[in-house]
Amino acid sequence: MTTPVAQIVDAAAYAQAVEDAVTAAAAYYAGGSSPLDDDAYDRLVRGIAAWEAAHPGQVLPDSPTGKVAGGAVVGDVPHTVAMLSLDNVFSPEELTAWAASLARRIGGEAERFSVEPKLDGLAVAARYVQGRLTRLITRGDGIAGEDVSHAIGTLEGLPARLSEAVTVEVRGEVLMTNAQFEHANEVRTQHGGPPFANPRGASAGTLRAKDRAYTVPMTFFGYALLPLTDTDPALAGRLNELAHSELMYLATQLGVHTTVGTAVPGIVAASVEDVLDRVREISGLRAELPFGIDGIVIKADLAADQQAAGSGSRAPRWAIAYKLPAVEKITRLVGVEWNVGRTGIIAPRGVLEPVEIDGATITYATLHNPADITRRDLRVGDHVMVHRAGDVIPRIEAPVAHLRTGDEQPIVFPDVCPRCGSAIDTGQERWRCEQGRNCHLVAALSYAVGRDQLDIEGLGATRIVQLVDAGLVTDLADLFALTRDQLLALERMGETSTDNLLTAIAAAKSQPLSRVLCALGVRGTGRSMSRRIARHFATMDHIRAADADALQHVEGIGTEKAPSIVAELADLAPLIDKLAAAGVNMTEPGATPPVPVAGQTENTDADDDGDGDGDGSADASGGPLAGMTVVVTGTMTGPLEKLTRNQTNELIERAGGRSSSSVSKKTTLVVAGEGAGSKRTKAETLGIRLATPAEFAALVADFVD
Ligand code: IVH
Repeated sequence: MTTPVAQIVDAAAYAQAVEDAVTAAAAYYAGGSSPLDDDAYDRLVRGIAAWEAAHPGQVLPDSPTGKVAGGAVVGDVPHTVAMLSLDNVFSPEELTAWAASLARRIGGEAERFSVEPKLDGLAVAARYVQGRLTRLITRGDGIAGEDVSHAIGTLEGLPARLSEAVTVEVRGEVLMTNAQFEHANEVRTQHGGPPFANPRGASAGTLRAKDRAYTVPMTFFGYALLPLTDTDPALAGRLNELAHSELMYLATQLGVHTTVGTAVPGIVAASVEDVLDRVREISGLRAELPFGIDGIVIKADLAADQQAAGSGSRAPRWAIAYKLPAVEKITRLVGVEWNVGRTGIIAPRGVLEPVEIDGATITYATLHNPADITRRDLRVGDHVMVHRAGDVIPRIEAPVAHLRTGDEQPIVFPDVCPRCGSAIDTGQERWRCEQGRNCHLVAALSYAVGRDQLDIEGLGATRIVQLVDAGLVTDLADLFALTRDQLLALERMGETSTDNLLTAIAAAKSQPLSRVLCALGVRGTGRSMSRRIARHFATMDHIRAADADALQHVEGIGTEKAPSIVAELADLAPLIDKLAAAGVNMTEPGATPPVPVAGQTENTDADDDGDGDGDGSADASGGPLAGMTVVVTGTMTGPLEKLTRNQTNELIERAGGRSSSSVSKKTTLVVAGEGAGSKRTKAETLGIRLATPAEFAALVADFVD
């Protein structure tokens, strides 16, 4: 990927570009709310550099190309050794060219490289005297920085005391993890402040803010360790001779947080090919990381190679940043749509001025709920920071408040359900049509008869609309009362389709309880949670008899979710009765009802929003997968090719295992089919057992339906 270069045509355009870049950099380093997103800034600077290369005599002193970091915020604490920036590359070719130029400079290929994520935060230097953290300094202009020692104690990963009484400087990046960012914005808006646009801006603002009424935690990742004074020449000599990877090991031994222990630890690579493999691995894992990275840093690992390469005034020649495509762009919010989902939830969706992020044109982004919109003070016409990572639905992070013109309009919340005109239940953060799932009956029914629920073939959305419009179906149970004559009377319904449909409807009555429960669309219980509940309680009667405490014995149901499930099931009672009367199965094959146990520990709520995330339950009984947590990724081939992901998860659970959608240290087996990507990579990184679809099929052969 190559970031296109901004075209600069003449000296005036050049001067303007320099001014724009300086303003953007100043805002970026001061409070993190730059009017340009990273991608636009990179393009501008590349354009400036290109123009300067052609007009070397006309370079302006302010130009960002000669500076460490825009140079807008200059502190008064001199750095012992300049805190340099990094030059960038944007493609494998550019990286290879950099490695070749490094080889020319040091008279042979670098012995080895260290490869680590480029953390998207702010550089700070932490000074330790006799093992005690005494001072925290920002990078500033690289020569001197600002004292931000007031932030000591708020940076997770930067201990007040090292494990040894050494006098050293630890350099690294301060950032907010995604969770810390959410928390920071909650606290900030509660105190009446405008929300931060993104985690980077939040850490910039927070780090520099003194005398705030509140503190919010941030995270420190060390990426350099150097001697601080000449008081211990022996230590200084030793540190100066260590390879970067050895220094990082030492830093962790001293108690400093580094990328070790994350899904993307720093590694050592022997060749440029190995570096590029690691670049691919890290980019594949990026979307799942709990913190932001904007690239990968490649460093000549050996001190001797670094010394031979030397440094320029802006950046070292022995290190380079391989920039990854931006996941955030600024665009305008041009409107808000309110859509009613299958459970009657009325969800706002932001309509954006189309913007390209990482190869996809984004025109919509999720907005969570009205309370969230109010909290973030979003307005139509606002410039907003849009975040898109991997295939996750893009989200609006926050308005870029200082780009407001005054013409922005408040977002109008609906007074009545935008679909059916009924009243809205605004009792919870997520608003809901008072008609509940009856409001969007077609969506609710389409979901219920879908492949992973009741699996009624021949009942597509058009057919459902017909049935609803004809007044034949007013709820799910009515499907089971449909007669041959009623169906034949519908347009485009011949004898064969009618008979097939009736057979499919009849067959659906024998689906296991887990699927019936899922078909009901209880909020907070998707496929995997429905399976867990059904396996735990074995019958619908037991589920309905369960109170919130009893429900919390199901893995993933905590104090928040339990009462809401109880309430939903109470609402659904008439429908459940009607389904049972129609002959729909209400038991889970192979499961036995629970024996009440006193004094079990409480659960915390798990995410199970019906998105099929596959976090299934473990079956205590035997089976080839007993005690194993299994993740299936990629396309399945061979004997299990026809199974949907949901059916595969059901199979895993029948075979005694637990299915999960994400790879973590807890995963025991990853079944990697064709085209498996980041999950396979992560399994390899974590040393988790991998199986091909064929191996997996052999393992669970006895449990296939
Ligand atoms: S090494 C002399 N390693 O990226 C080498 N920097 O754009 C200087 N950064 O100023 C930095 N992660 O703030 C290094 N693993 C990493 C990094 C990293 C993030 C930041 C750092 C640096 C900036 C350059």
